[in-house]
Amino acid sequence: MKLHPADFKTLTPEVFRVFGTQNALLTAGDRDVCNTMTIGWCQLGRLWSIPVCTVYVRPERYTYAFMESHDYFTVSVLPLSDRQTAQVCGTKSGRDIDKIKECGLTLRRGAGDAPFFDEAEWVLVCRKLYAQDLDESCVLDERVLHHYGAKGGWHRAYTGEVVEAYTK
Ligand SMILES: Cc1cc2nc3c(=O)[nH]c(=O)nc-3n(C[C@H](O)[C@H](O)[C@H](O)COP(=O)(O)O)c2cc1C
Repeated sequence: MKLHPADFKTLTPEVFRVFGTQNALLTAGDRDVCNTMTIGWCQLGRLWSIPVCTVYVRPERYTYAFMESHDYFTVSVLPLSDRQTAQVCGTKSGRDIDKIKECGLTLRRGAGDAPFFDEAEWVLVCRKLYAQDLDESCVLDERVLHHYGAKGGWHRAYTGEVVEAYTK
């Protein structure tokens, strides 16, 4: 079923459940080229009196370059049943394979030509407002540190204004 535009103010995702059990695809790019990767971490809320979505991207991800070079990004929340897409997009890099083709994803375009996928349960289209690297010197609880070192570089947090939503 195709996704259709929705008013994000009336979306009621159970964010703590969704981002604890389901996965999402973070996608950035344009009509010529784009990339997607699985994310497990995402925050939704209000900041600077603006509805926002924040995602976290390690610098070694191929997606990072797309997040840097494009004004928009999308978060496509996958159904729980679609483990295969989450697995492929979370373990393979767009540097090596075309994940969108490999997973048979149906590409759609939102505001700013931002790419998202019809296979999602729901989607947010976001326009970047703010980006900042997470910083070891700001850590207050050692559980945070377990995610770094051998596991990879410090994430860059991207906060975007939610400008569109799509649902089934
Ligand atoms: C369940 C799951 C959640 C993930 N969440 C994130 C995340 O929030 N941020 C991140 O930088 N990488 C995350 N990753 C890792 C990337 O999805 C993975 O490294 C991917 O292959 C990067 O693809 P790319 O090189 O095409 O960008 C996650 C992987 C999995 C399997």
